[in-house]
Amino acid sequence: MKTVLITGANKGIGFETAKQMAQLGYFVYLGSRDKIKGQDALNKLKSLGILNVELIEIDVTNISSIKKAKQELENQTEVLDILINNAGISGGQPQNISTSAIENLRKVFETNFFGAVQTTQQFINLMKKSNNPIIVNVSSELGSLTLHNSRQNPNFEIYDTYSCSKTALNGFTVMLANEYKNTNFKINSVSPGYTATDLNQNRGTQTVEQGAKFIVKYATLGIEGPTGGFFKETEIPW
Ligand SMILES: NC(=O)c1ccc[n+]([C@@H]2O[C@H](COP(=O)([O-])OP(=O)(O)OC[C@H]3O[C@@H](n4cnc5c(N)ncnc54)[C@H](OP(=O)(O)O)[C@@H]3O)[C@@H](O)[C@H]2O)c1
Repeated sequence: MKTVLITGANKGIGFETAKQMAQLGYFVYLGSRDKIKGQDALNKLKSLGILNVELIEIDVTNISSIKKAKQELENQTEVLDILINNAGISGGQPQNISTSAIENLRKVFETNFFGAVQTTQQFINLMKKSNNPIIVNVSSELGSLTLHNSRQNPNFEIYDTYSCSKTALNGFTVMLANEYKNTNFKINSVSPGYTATDLNQNRGTQTVEQGAKFIVKYATLGIEGPTGGFFKETEIPW
């Protein structure tokens, strides 16, 4: 059974992604920074008859927590096939970049950018044992500089801090995909789209089922799939 680790999977899009991946027959390591919330999420899946899932406590801003999670995973499996860097925070609002508190900007980057980088750095060796290793960085159209510049983005002023962190995350996707271009790794940024979750006080226009679908599509790519791209239904401009 192929294995997948999803960070921030105790609720929202991450939880739904865990559910859909498990239903497709993957063994899911459901990442949660809070053990109780993670256990509740796990119980919810088990009550639906989904048993191929295990809780992994992981806070992506805490290197000791990530290393502990890696050790726990290594005790349970020899290979990690898929890593979904989903954990993220919005940083509240408003976020106009000229006035955003630097502490808040740093906090958002700690989770959305550094969190994904340091989680990947810790787990990538375990992924090298997979014949089809896949990394999905859960990004957002708000990370697209092209869309911001063309003012096609409806939220272009109220989510500046968050947007910058997702642009940085996209940079990580490109650099890592380039570094691994001569391997079988598939490394992409994927946007779930504007989805009703706690992140936006449930104002998103899509359901979590719809949002998770895009992540699942790129987390289950075949060996011929794309790498180094930014996707939702179709490719998103950087
Ligand atoms: N919703 C949207 O419209 C939308 C659009 C584009 C992209 N996204 C992206 O989709 C991803 C999931 O967001 P969501 O909408 O599902 O939000 P959500 O419901 O607020 O879920 C966020 C998840 O991330 C976890 N998390 C936050 N900080 C963490 C940390 N330091 N370590 C580990 N886990 C942490 C949260 O855990 P706690 O429960 O402990 O807080 C929660 O499980 C994020 O990367 C977000 O940026 C969302």
